[in-house]
Amino acid sequence: MTELETYQGVATIEKVAALCRRRGFVFPSSDIYGGLGSAYDYGHYGVLMRQNIRGEWWRSMIQERDDMVALDSAIILNPQVWVASGHVAGFSDPLVDCRTCKLRFRADDLEHEHCGRHPSKHPGETPDCDLTEAREFNLMFETFVGPVRDSASVAYLRPETAQGIFVNFKNVTSSLRVKPPFGIAQIGKSFRNEITPGNFIFRLREFEQMEMEYFVPPADAAQWHEYWIEERRRWHLSLGLRESYLRVRAHGAEELSHYSSATSDIEYLYPIGWLELEGVANRGDYDLRQHSEHSGTKLEWIGHDERYIPHVVEPAGGVDRFMLAFLCDGYDEEEVAGRRRTVLRLHPRVAPVKVAVLPLIAKNGDMVERARRLYEELRRAMSAEFDADAAIGKRYRRQDEIGTPWALTIDEQTLEDDTVTLRDRDSLAQIRISLAGAKQLLLERLEQPWSPRG
Ligand code: GAP
Repeated sequence: MTELETYQGVATIEKVAALCRRRGFVFPSSDIYGGLGSAYDYGHYGVLMRQNIRGEWWRSMIQERDDMVALDSAIILNPQVWVASGHVAGFSDPLVDCRTCKLRFRADDLEHEHCGRHPSKHPGETPDCDLTEAREFNLMFETFVGPVRDSASVAYLRPETAQGIFVNFKNVTSSLRVKPPFGIAQIGKSFRNEITPGNFIFRLREFEQMEMEYFVPPADAAQWHEYWIEERRRWHLSLGLRESYLRVRAHGAEELSHYSSATSDIEYLYPIGWLELEGVANRGDYDLRQHSEHSGTKLEWIGHDERYIPHVVEPAGGVDRFMLAFLCDGYDEEEVAGRRRTVLRLHPRVAPVKVAVLPLIAKNGDMVERARRLYEELRRAMSAEFDADAAIGKRYRRQDEIGTPWALTIDEQTLEDDTVTLRDRDSLAQIRISLAGAKQLLLERLEQPWSPRG
């Protein structure tokens, strides 16, 4: 497949952000106080959608495998963890300040930055620009543990969930039935004082990671690295992201993180260009070796006739960044019967609401009662919504905008023959199905493969 150079869809980050705010997916955080740089709160539909993203990741990583166990480690760890991991010394970006416009920029990314006085120019490009020398800026948020605020009580909010996994290696291998190759998976919040956050929920200072550390015999690491790159690419495709909008890009030597011997990014073509969705790194034995040396506890695998430090392959993604990719991929605008509609063509398993139950005539007590009964039956099995408010066309469009794949409409005929209309969000096809079989049919559809373009 030839690689696309530029984004071809109708979404923009601004349109997606506006829809998210209008329909209760994402709000600027502490909005009534003017917000806080790049912090967002998730509203009802955002929460449901994120639960689904986490759930799908969990299902593929833990539930459907027998070589994986779960972990939920603390956010604030012993600060020595971050000394050993290399984050205290090396988790930094080079930054420059402009003495003229007082803005701060990433020195290694000036071509994506805008001058404060002349936004069409990059920093340093105009005679007014007066940039300082670059200096390293550590991205970890510092805090203090206990009542005394001194250097001995400094601790950090974790900048990645991965280290919580490495420092639990011994606990896990001595308490659970695992043997390399095996993985430890964790979902949780991470924090980075990013110099230039932005693009809505793409780069945040507080975000949620989904990371898995896969421990393997050293000789097998390269092969497992390839395996996990392909496995994760297929996961994104299985949830409906367009194949032409996904690519795998291997890091050059100069780009590799301090711990990595090889990393490939799975990139997605966002409306703002090709950007990292998820990283898949071969971390070698860097982390277990570092923690063994710094803690004095040997982190190694001891089998019947073998003893070695496992190598680690790590697929690391983010809930917020995946959510933005699903929203951009699904966002569409089209003309239907002379009216414009905005629709989120989300994979049914990612969509916040699976089915809307709508009595055709809101004033008809029998229809409302039948619809309500059906809704109460469905909501035990899936996220469902009941809506008897406004004209039916308006209700359909409301559901289209939040990405609800199916609507069941109760009408006159339902009262006569116990059938309902099933409306499909994407094709707009309407078919009659039996009321009694509706739940089973939708459960089967949720398990079926789905692709965005039919
Ligand atoms: N443990 C390896 C690690 O943390 P990373 O590439 O820095 O690697 C992994 O982060 C993933 O976490 C990224 O691919 C992205 O999905 C997400 N992520 C990282 N920084 C983020 C940020 N500032 N805002 C939102 N998501 C972020």
